[in-house]
Amino acid sequence: MQRINVNKPYLPDKNKYFKYLDKIWENNHLTNFGPLSLELENRLCEFLGVDNILFLANGTLALQVAYKLAGLKAKDKILTTPFSFVATTDTVMWENIEPIFCDINAKSLCIDEILLDSMLTKSSVESKIESNIDSQITHNIKAILPVHTFGNTCDLEKLEQIAKKHHLKIIYDAAHAFGVKYKNKSVFSYGDISTISFHATKIFHSIEGGAIIFRDKSLKDEAKSIINFGLKNNMPEVLGINAKNSEFHAAMGLCVLDDMHYILEDRKRVWEYYFKHLKDIFEFQILNPNINNNYHYFPILCESEESLLEKIRILNSNNIFPRRYFYPSLDTLSFYNKSNAKSCKISQDIASRILCLPIYVGLEQESQDKIIKCLIS
Ligand SMILES: Cc1ncc(COP(=O)(O)O)c(C=O)c1O
Repeated sequence: MQRINVNKPYLPDKNKYFKYLDKIWENNHLTNFGPLSLELENRLCEFLGVDNILFLANGTLALQVAYKLAGLKAKDKILTTPFSFVATTDTVMWENIEPIFCDINAKSLCIDEILLDSMLTKSSVESKIESNIDSQITHNIKAILPVHTFGNTCDLEKLEQIAKKHHLKIIYDAAHAFGVKYKNKSVFSYGDISTISFHATKIFHSIEGGAIIFRDKSLKDEAKSIINFGLKNNMPEVLGINAKNSEFHAAMGLCVLDDMHYILEDRKRVWEYYFKHLKDIFEFQILNPNINNNYHYFPILCESEESLLEKIRILNSNNIFPRRYFYPSLDTLSFYNKSNAKSCKISQDIASRILCLPIYVGLEQESQDKIIKCLIS
């Protein structure tokens, strides 16, 4: 019985990749902003409809660099979602910034912008009157870090208004949002900075990789220096790190980008087949009506954690390996231990019963039938 994993990295035509390898040998430029990396950035700008993009080592470092660019420092606070991949919170804590969790909307699975507004408004009003728990928690918040969960978004315009009202920066963790448009405009055009992951499991990938997309063009030069040890004209001028990516990764990105229309079409086929057969059985994330689906994930919501565990057991016994994505809710992480933090009940509930089904280019209908049969049984 062939094993079916939650995803299978897309591999483009090997000969095309080899042609790029020939170019790397000709150029003798292996890393440090080589011609293929620049070509990839230009082609990504065109494909995504954005102006400024910086290709780098991965989506995790992209987030860390984004916090620096937004001017965040140790002990500052960032308002974020507890329903995401652990990297969203890890990066914040790694930079000694304090994550403050705002619960999610049970339908969109994205940060609840109404709750977020009320948390911020309450804190600014109450902090003037008395020092209570809410105002202590939200005091010193410098930015908002929402996630376009599974490629979905909350109300982006409302978030922009909230950020403006409270003088906060917005950094979007857009790791899942490749190719997503909100009202026909790239989701990357919203917020001050967006970051994305090009990990092998993503719809578009460069094996390992990621990018930062900026609203303010001048930030790109700053970021370029930060990811290259903080060097400017070969002199260390700002605090930097090595987060560059190589020409070999860029070459993979260029090959995958050529196949993007096929990748999206085939994922659509898989997504729609599941939806047709499962729509009356499970609850689903509700996509924002103003965006397009990029068919990145196929999450289903089970009735309870027991029911989810039973489904995983049946699937695993048939050599099928879906993923509990995202689990656990990040406000419950053992290394995030804030005694005064509010617990995020909706995120915890969703995290306990959500399951991402296998979805990838080339997943056969026969395999999907098997998965559907296991789930229905
Ligand atoms: C929401 C989210 N943020 C950040 C990351 C980190 O990206 P990378 O694996 O490229 O470091 C991921 C990776 O899956 C993710 O899902």
